[in-house]
Amino acid sequence: MTTATIHSYVPKNAKQRPEMPIRHMDFQFDGKQLDDTFFRNTELASAYFEALSIFLTFGEDLVIDTARHHRQFVKDPELKRLVTALIGQEAIHSKMHNEFNDVLAQHRFPVGLYRFLADKVFEHGFKKLPNRMQLSLMAGIEHFTAVLAEYMMKHEDIFYESFDEKQRALWMWHMLEESEHKDVAYDVFQELSGDYALRMQGFALAAFTIVFLIPVAASLIPIMRKPRNLLSPRYWKDVQRSLAVMVGPKDGVYGSTIKHILDYTRRDFHPSDHDTSAYLEYYKEKLLNPKTGLLAPYLTKEFVPGKRA
Ligand SMILES: [Fe+2]
Ligand SMILES: [Fe+2]
Repeated sequence: MTTATIHSYVPKNAKQRPEMPIRHMDFQFDGKQLDDTFFRNTELASAYFEALSIFLTFGEDLVIDTARHHRQFVKDPELKRLVTALIGQEAIHSKMHNEFNDVLAQHRFPVGLYRFLADKVFEHGFKKLPNRMQLSLMAGIEHFTAVLAEYMMKHEDIFYESFDEKQRALWMWHMLEESEHKDVAYDVFQELSGDYALRMQGFALAAFTIVFLIPVAASLIPIMRKPRNLLSPRYWKDVQRSLAVMVGPKDGVYGSTIKHILDYTRRDFHPSDHDTSAYLEYYKEKLLNPKTGLLAPYLTKEFVPGKRA
């Protein structure tokens, strides 16, 4: 690829970017304690997050490879340092979700099959795209994780409805960091390309994966788990409720965030237009306080990558 800086790009929030520590975690997931109705006590919507957890590891590996490749072209030394932090954070997300996914297999979840399918989509699809398109896809994926992060931070109570503290800790930690690094992929794309049409193509591909491919994959899980669900009125009620909690306009994960999702299509969009700094402060204290933090029992090491030349 011959990516080159074609214009001088100054990110909107260059002066107050949050610090991005790389936090090493050790959750020791246990299948016996895992709640497969974790999300709002539903089977289908919870299966969406389980399928997302599989696909996320492949998305993160793509983000890592793409960020590594493009880091060499980034001129802004501060942005370059943040790319290193992004790579570090995503590497640990991928590792922890893989550990979680291993345990999911104990819940009649076809982890091997879903990993195989996700691998095919990424290996023979997304990873074959030109580098400039992968960069755009990376920014698109990071937009969706930023939307999800903001949703989770704004709806904290939902994630306390389940007894499954480790699953809650996994998602809250992951989303905290997605919010911390939400500008980085976008800023790299804007610095190295800035092509609006290309940005929209990456957004469309990310949207296709997150709001079509993963839901289709997820829809099969409750049936594979319990084939009798197909004939059970109780399960069809679950489907209705799951759809409401995912796409309902009031507080559905994607239904209530559609404006934020589509805001990405604005030509002068920047992730920091959605200010999450107050939530970040709140959650850092709530999750990371060494005595009372939800993540304290699982956090093993933390460091901030130094400045790179
Ligand atoms: Fe991540
Ligand atoms: Fe991310």
